[in-house]
Amino acid sequence: MTDTQFIPDSDKFGKQVDAVNNGEFTWESPSNIALVKYWGKKKDQIPENPSISFTLSNCKTITTLRFSKKNDMAFSFDVFLDGKKQDDFKPKIETFFKRIEPYLPFLRNFHFTIDTRNTFPHSSGIASSASGMSALALCLMGVEKKLNPDIVTGYFNKKASFLARLGSGSACRSIEGDLVVWGKHELIDESSDLYGVKYPYKVHDNFKNFQDTILLVDKGQKQVSSTVGHNLMHNHPFAEQRFKQAHSNLERLMPVLESGDLMAFVELVESEALTLHAMMMTSNPYFILMKPNTLEIINKIWAFRKETSLPIGFTLDAGANVHILYPGKDSEKILEFIKNELVVYCENAHYICDEIGFGAKQL
Ligand code: PMV
Repeated sequence: MTDTQFIPDSDKFGKQVDAVNNGEFTWESPSNIALVKYWGKKKDQIPENPSISFTLSNCKTITTLRFSKKNDMAFSFDVFLDGKKQDDFKPKIETFFKRIEPYLPFLRNFHFTIDTRNTFPHSSGIASSASGMSALALCLMGVEKKLNPDIVTGYFNKKASFLARLGSGSACRSIEGDLVVWGKHELIDESSDLYGVKYPYKVHDNFKNFQDTILLVDKGQKQVSSTVGHNLMHNHPFAEQRFKQAHSNLERLMPVLESGDLMAFVELVESEALTLHAMMMTSNPYFILMKPNTLEIINKIWAFRKETSLPIGFTLDAGANVHILYPGKDSEKILEFIKNELVVYCENAHYICDEIGFGAKQL
């Protein structure tokens, strides 16, 4: 599927827009956590390598989009976060609208009110771009479906993911669940650089109710925006090797997902997280996004794993917070360990219990 297939039929467009004056849609969309990481992109948010993520369940954005017909042809919208007008979000959304306009030609025909809230605190160091952009993309697809009721679910989700990608790359992995691949991989049927697809092969029951406890080591603003971070992969001395490695790590993950080999899973996922940070440490300019407490937590996890043989592992995003991954059946012991030994390393003892989820929902 090429991107031209997401451009609606211009012959029908006039009549469809005439028939709709206003409406509203509400979607909730989750965050996701990558197992094999996306780090580095080409023009138009095309990833340099395929990635795979667990869709989360509790960390999500809930967005209501109201729209009413207007006559002039300028973009017109207001954004509210937790009920408060948020004009500083407008430039990002305007850029998003400009990027997606070829695929949603109705954007200039309506005034939009975007009312959004997150279930996790704004200042938690958890990026809201994946859940936020995917929720907005789904609401906009609601408008498109209202104009063209013939749209089927498969196309709806694919295009929502396609649009979300143009807002924030990893947002395209938040539409569905529970495991989503984004980026073309020769062994994964239907995988695409343009949108995320549900991982299409057998997944062992060991991964069915996986837990992600997010330890908030640093609740501040990201030190390096992901846009800057991705750009640092241009001319990075190890970039080509890293992109190849992501392909082979995804290939290595496939039999692990099938067999349910939890220790092999942990090893691969931790290595991916450390590689992401190694890329940042070796770029120009270089960054260390882990904090001393990130390392304390990692060392404690390794010691606990050695002592108990429990399949507990970690992953990291482009920041200091630690995502602890483990199967639901070991929750009791692992949560006790987290509370007793790791919470001291969190800012204000703050952590969030999340788990694998099944994608966005219309409310
Ligand atoms: O979607 P972006 O541009 O914010 O990039 C996300 C990058 C990582 O979170 C570090 C990795 C990933 O695959 O989610």
